[in-house]
Amino acid sequence: MLRLATLAVAALTASVVSAGAKCGSGAQCPSSAPCCSQYGECGTGAYCLGGCDPVNSFSLDSCTPEPICQSKNFNSFDSMDDLASNTKYLGNSTEYDWVYSGTPIVHDGNLVLTMGNGSVGTLVAYNHYIWYGKVSGTFKTSRDAGVVTAFILLSDAKDEIDYEFIGVDLQTAQTNYYFQGIPDWHHGVNATIDSNSFENFHTYEIDWTPDAVTWYLDGKSVRVLKREETYNETTHQYMFPQTPARLELSLWPGGLASNAQGVIEWAGGEIDWNSQDMQNPGYYYAIFSNISITCYDPPSWAPSVKDGNAYIYNNIAATNNTVQIVKNNTVLANFADTGLNMTASFSTSTASASQSSSTIADSVPGQNGGDGAHSGAGFNGTSSSSSSSTSETSSSAPTSTGFSQGGGSNPKSGTVSVNENMLQSSIFAVLVAVVALVAL
Ligand SMILES: *[C@@H]1O[C@H](CO)[C@@H](O)[C@H](O)[C@H]1NC(C)=O
Ligand SMILES: *[C@@H]1O[C@H](CO)[C@@H](O)[C@H](O)[C@H]1NC(C)=O
Ligand SMILES: *[C@@H]1O[C@H](CO)[C@@H](O)[C@H](O)[C@H]1NC(C)=O
Ligand SMILES: *[C@@H]1O[C@H](CO)[C@@H](O)[C@H](O)[C@H]1NC(C)=O
Ligand SMILES: *[C@@H]1O[C@H](CO)[C@@H](O)[C@H](O)[C@H]1NC(C)=O
Ligand SMILES: *[C@@H]1O[C@H](CO)[C@@H](O)[C@H](O)[C@H]1NC(C)=O
Ligand SMILES: *[C@@H]1O[C@H](CO)[C@@H](O)[C@H](O)[C@H]1NC(C)=O
Ligand SMILES: *[C@@H]1O[C@H](CO)[C@@H](O)[C@H](O)[C@H]1NC(C)=O
Ligand SMILES: *[C@@H]1O[C@H](CO)[C@@H](O)[C@H](O)[C@H]1NC(C)=O
Repeated sequence: MLRLATLAVAALTASVVSAGAKCGSGAQCPSSAPCCSQYGECGTGAYCLGGCDPVNSFSLDSCTPEPICQSKNFNSFDSMDDLASNTKYLGNSTEYDWVYSGTPIVHDGNLVLTMGNGSVGTLVAYNHYIWYGKVSGTFKTSRDAGVVTAFILLSDAKDEIDYEFIGVDLQTAQTNYYFQGIPDWHHGVNATIDSNSFENFHTYEIDWTPDAVTWYLDGKSVRVLKREETYNETTHQYMFPQTPARLELSLWPGGLASNAQGVIEWAGGEIDWNSQDMQNPGYYYAIFSNISITCYDPPSWAPSVKDGNAYIYNNIAATNNTVQIVKNNTVLANFADTGLNMTASFSTSTASASQSSSTIADSVPGQNGGDGAHSGAGFNGTSSSSSSSTSETSSSAPTSTGFSQGGGSNPKSGTVSVNENMLQSSIFAVLVAVVALVAL
């Protein structure tokens, strides 16, 4: 699913007084809330971090520079120490490799993404941007109607490369890609998994170079997309993913009753919140055992400096030749700050935790559990990017204040306050809902 969104500001207005302006499709953010989040709304703080859309922000340097790629293997998840909540993370990717929204837990050395009753699931993103590389994940997907597991690369310019799994078809891995978030429904290709993806670990890989994307399943190539195939004769441009992207793992409710019909159908129907998994352990879940990230060199012609640590865009075209490697700060002093001055409010306070919830809402965008826009898998999308009914979706936000941890298998991440959970779940729900609207 395309993770694009003309978003959900309405959701925020439902729970807080001041909401950011919308942005996207050329509508840029005001200087007071300069960062356009990946969900299409304006704010500061976390809005300027991962997912910040440089094209629709106030200016190209409103978003913070993107930490460059770091090759790492994660073969055992024994604590939450390397994962920061999006309500805490200020951009220090040295301190935290991952940022999350929702409720990930660690259990038996695995990272488990959960989706509790009525929630919108969990999203975990790698904080180091990949500008070509190979990502590999060994995981078990979630199951049942409406439940979507995803393993994707997503750039701030909305280039996207996907592996997605629908809980009613546990022997199909859906591959897909998007260029600059342009909704094109004809790029999905299915691959067959040789055994049930819920019961068994399989290894899914995306190998991304400037020339091609190759999807591997258990070591076998199941799809190759060549850059040449994506040439657009009209625009004389390759519609090929080509900008630095984050790895995102997610579990999200495509089958949320409030979603658009097309999304629900793509996801295999409405979610049953009384299913076997909802009884025990009490949530839907996807289990990630191993993740590895191997960075490839950025294009040799890309402008870069010695000891560069971050990618930035120098032109709103947001194509591969507009990315450069700089040496610059990537960490905000606090949630009131932006890429325009990352230490402007240094003296005022330190963390979102001390701020009111309304301030948090303006500085922490919802990070939808998943990537719920529209399936490239071919449900009937006439794609008008309508955002018209965002306001009505706000009222359908689940009011769940927390995620069930079932038999209490591992409550390590259970430190999120009720306040944050409420905020997150309402943001999430709207994202899911709105994102669905975008699709149809
Ligand atoms: C994950 O990696 C570890 C260490 O390389 C390996 O022992 C284990 O079998 C892997 N797990 C799976 C499910 O492949
Ligand atoms: C980021 O975190 C690391 C490790 O905790 C720390 O050494 C470094 O000073 C931090 N950087 C900034 C800019 O806060
Ligand atoms: C992929 O498989 C799903 C069923 O799991 C089906 O609905 C969808 O149409 C298939 N997509 C393609 C591109 O074949
Ligand atoms: C090529 O680009 C034009 C202009 O953006 C667009 O209308 C058209 O659909 C694109 N063609 C393909 C095959 O994607
Ligand atoms: C990347 O940039 C180079 C040089 O500008 C260009 O030749 C190439 O086609 C671009 N690749 C893509 C995927 O757009
Ligand atoms: C989930 O929540 C709904 C609505 O509150 C409730 O009817 C249902 O029983 C709950 N499911 C479980 C497994 O508790
Ligand atoms: C580095 O950061 C400073 C302060 O935010 C900014 O003025 C400058 O433009 C940045 N340099 C680059 C190359 O991005
Ligand atoms: C950032 O804001 C602080 C506080 O207003 C100011 O002292 C500092 O000069 C600003 N830095 C830049 C690069 O504008
Ligand atoms: C999409 O819907 C239209 C109108 O309902 C129908 O004619 C068309 O066949 C549908 N396309 C697909 C791919 O289902």
